Amino acid sequence: MGSVKQCLRRVGVLGRSTSGGRVFDGTSGLRSVELCARSGVMTRSSTTSLGTAAGEGQQHEEGTTSSSLLSVAPMMEWTDVHYRTLARLMTRRTLLYTEMIVDKTLVFQDKAGNSLDRYLHFPELQHPVVLQLGGNKASELEAAVNLAVAYGYDEINLNCGCPSPRVSGKGCFGAALMKEPSTVREIVESMARASPVPVTVKCRLGVDDNDTYPELVEFVKRTSEGLPIHHYVIHARKAFLKGLSPAQNRNVPPLKYDWVYQLSQDFPHLQFSLNGGVQNLEEARELLDRRGEAGGRLHGVMIGRAAYQRPWHTLSDADRAIYGESENPCTSRRQLLTAYSQLCDGKIEAYSKAFGCKPGQVIRKMVKPLLGMFYAEPGTSKWKKSLESMLQSGSAKSVGEIVLKGMVHIPEEILDASPQAKLVHETRTDDEGNKKRVFSMVE
Ligand SMILES: Cc1cc2nc3c(=O)[nH]c(=O)nc-3n(C[C@H](O)[C@H](O)[C@H](O)COP(=O)(O)O)c2cc1C
Repeated sequence: MGSVKQCLRRVGVLGRSTSGGRVFDGTSGLRSVELCARSGVMTRSSTTSLGTAAGEGQQHEEGTTSSSLLSVAPMMEWTDVHYRTLARLMTRRTLLYTEMIVDKTLVFQDKAGNSLDRYLHFPELQHPVVLQLGGNKASELEAAVNLAVAYGYDEINLNCGCPSPRVSGKGCFGAALMKEPSTVREIVESMARASPVPVTVKCRLGVDDNDTYPELVEFVKRTSEGLPIHHYVIHARKAFLKGLSPAQNRNVPPLKYDWVYQLSQDFPHLQFSLNGGVQNLEEARELLDRRGEAGGRLHGVMIGRAAYQRPWHTLSDADRAIYGESENPCTSRRQLLTAYSQLCDGKIEAYSKAFGCKPGQVIRKMVKPLLGMFYAEPGTSKWKKSLESMLQSGSAKSVGEIVLKGMVHIPEEILDASPQAKLVHETRTDDEGNKKRVFSMVE
């Protein structure tokens, strides 16, 4: 499929260049999010030190949640419990993945008598949530699933796609597992035995020299045949375990969406979600509507970086645009930010205790997902600077305080624009003939 060097050239990393104020009472939105967050899932109840984690729900259809038309990818350091709260306020329906949690961490902490809330707790309003686990031994992953069950996740996913040396360098782990389908089979069989909810796999198209379509077919066959594994999320590019950094591995190897459509055709009894390079909801909608050359259709689309770096632009219209709902849970960023701040500020102390860190550190983590809220819009630099300087000074005692100060830099039209509104710039000439660039939000 091509060497590291060829791929780097293709994207121009090596040698030749190529193309390459006023605050609404946000509680009504918040209440409806809490009421409607859970959908199509089967969970067990448990009460943790941070509150109830899960309740009863409905049965899964065909081993996956009905929400997986659109999902937000697992991203370490990014899709933490706070980011997921923000995402859930924007979309009730989208499936949210946790960061990858290493099986050994859970087993070790549990043996040491420590609470696992720090790794596994999530608030009730976040359903449906998928826990992603990383590991390479069937017995350890089974033990990790047993520990996670009480938290009531809606699905459990095995990471077979991460090429990070921190992950794949430690023996066969993450993407490296794709070279050993029989080990993955053993692992998912053990995980499924322990799990009351569906077990799914996230993988690449291939790894290193194991990068042909028939090898991918063999991987899917060997890891699903006769097992209750029905859903694969495919990051539609191969991974290079050596020679590329994790970030390069997310950009350099070419995307091959057609392989995912082909898998849907070749395994009609399985479900495939496509991941990699999807920038917005329009693209996701187009991919979901499209049929592959042989007629295959996708089960879902997963968005990663765009959903974190431009959360409002990527997720706020998802319920309407992807799931056909008549309205979205949030009507504006003013409402969203108010609701998010209220939720966060009510939990600072609890998270501080559960995570064993100072309130200031919790506030930092809660504010971080907000940095891209006004991406490429007037006021965005001042917004980010304001948030960052308040975090740095450590003076703020609440998320609400930081958000209010930051909002001063954002024009009212933008704060109150609906999820569907688009920013339009135009040049106007005043009575004295002076040209001025102005913007407006067009619904
Ligand atoms: C900061 C960061 C952390 C990531 N961590 C994980 C992870 O824990 N597990 C995983 O399967 N993929 C991880 N990924 C990969 C994403 O899930 C996704 O597959 C990748 O970013 C491609 O999707 P995108 O082009 O929509 O971003 C990570 C990506 C980023 C940017």
